[in-house]
Amino acid sequence: MNTPSKKDLNINRRKFVKSTALATGFAMTGGLSLASSAYVNPKAKKLKLAVVGCGGRGTGAAVQALTADPDVELVALADAFMDRIDQCLLHLQETEELAEDRKANIKVKPDRKFTGFDAYRNAIKEADVVILATPPGFRPYHLEEAVNQGKHIFCEKPLATDGAGIRKVMELLPIVEEKKLNVVVGLQRHYQTNYRIIMEKIHNGELGDVTSGQVYWNSGGVWVHKREELLQKYPNLTEMEYQMRNWYYFNWLCGDHIVEQHIHNIDVFNWAKNAYPVKAQGMGGREVRTDKDHGEIFDHHFVEFHFEDGSIMNSQCRHIQGCLSNVSETIVGTKGRAKLGGDGSGSMTDLNGKSMYLHRGLEDPNPYQVEHDELFASIRNGGQINDLENGAKATLTAILGRYATYSGQMITWEDALNSTIQLMPAKMDWNHSPIVSPNSDGYYPVAVPGQTKVI
Ligand SMILES: NC(=O)c1ccc[n+]([C@@H]2O[C@H](COP(=O)([O-])OP(=O)(O)OC[C@H]3O[C@@H](n4cnc5c(N)ncnc54)[C@H](O)[C@@H]3O)[C@@H](O)[C@H]2O)c1
Repeated sequence: MNTPSKKDLNINRRKFVKSTALATGFAMTGGLSLASSAYVNPKAKKLKLAVVGCGGRGTGAAVQALTADPDVELVALADAFMDRIDQCLLHLQETEELAEDRKANIKVKPDRKFTGFDAYRNAIKEADVVILATPPGFRPYHLEEAVNQGKHIFCEKPLATDGAGIRKVMELLPIVEEKKLNVVVGLQRHYQTNYRIIMEKIHNGELGDVTSGQVYWNSGGVWVHKREELLQKYPNLTEMEYQMRNWYYFNWLCGDHIVEQHIHNIDVFNWAKNAYPVKAQGMGGREVRTDKDHGEIFDHHFVEFHFEDGSIMNSQCRHIQGCLSNVSETIVGTKGRAKLGGDGSGSMTDLNGKSMYLHRGLEDPNPYQVEHDELFASIRNGGQINDLENGAKATLTAILGRYATYSGQMITWEDALNSTIQLMPAKMDWNHSPIVSPNSDGYYPVAVPGQTKVI
């Protein structure tokens, strides 16, 4: 198998991956025969499902997969920790979100609950379809295993936390194509009605040329799992286990919130442009996220992403309580502008402010469910949805943003892709120290713009 060289990856970067809606349309209408589809035996009625990463999203995605198709059986669960597996199973058995006949399809035997850093390999072996929903630092390794084993995949965003991880994911692209694997990436706006309709209008030229955009994930922030509280529950807590359980605050696991969360909004502007940025510069820091348990990530970033045609995306993300909340995207064109929100809303106005389109979205299907409905329909029909390339490039765009704010420099797409800084530890072991360690006072090093090197 030839894998693309770094040069190929760079040259291909501006060819935007068409939205999944189109890929799905192809799969449904002119798609491949089931016999040519990966792995699934055409005579097999049951599809076996495994979840890798049994936290909030892995559990939610399992509900959606079981709901999508009456013949999906959940057979294996993998997590770093057994308590997360048990919580996941309990939730699946008790939740009112899952119909009783689908609960009957939960068939995880005790010896199909796998724990530890290698758990993913064993769980993936048991399944036809896998859900990958650990913190994103592990995603390249889990994707590699699932692709090499020829499994269909639902994979949460982001796909990596550094350039090295993205290079690993990009090397999987030809194998995914060759094996005709379905890979749905959890950038669910691609499966949300307001985005699909308005993107089609933008691509049909209704806004003219897209010249700029403003994208936001400004909110109060997310959970913190404090060391002291964890120590009460897990008295033998090592530094590795602490970082794993408080993963949001460590870049090797999370990538910072610009990557973990704001990727959604950044991806929307790329989608509107049908392109990826060539360079970025920005600023960021931490004003209130300053406790020991806040690890090493910033609480705000502002990035100016430059595209080859001169257009610019301004991106803001903030995790500070008591400030203006805004999670949305504005796309500005030469004939008007569009405003979009993950809440299902969408509008388009012309240059005089006159409405061109209004989408309220109250009755729209849940995009998290649509992801799985379309994934399983595609597997059944022998089609192929492949979100992997856009997932990798959307992730790289967000990583480029972090490199720009951490360094305070103009960083190019090639710099980000080819960065030699590797965040993932060489060895995964509970007693091994992760790359980032606290100082004697318990504080972690934080990037200092103007001094921090990212490439
Ligand atoms: N698309 C969305 O809207 C959306 C929403 C929430 C989360 N997510 C994504 O889903 C992923 C998981 O987020 P979450 O909120 O479910 O986090 P979580 O902490 O609730 O769950 C993560 C689980 O992965 C487990 N884990 C960690 N490392 C592992 C390893 N090496 N092998 C196996 N298991 C491992 C953890 O123990 C935990 O149970 C993240 O990438 C996040 O960005 C996406």
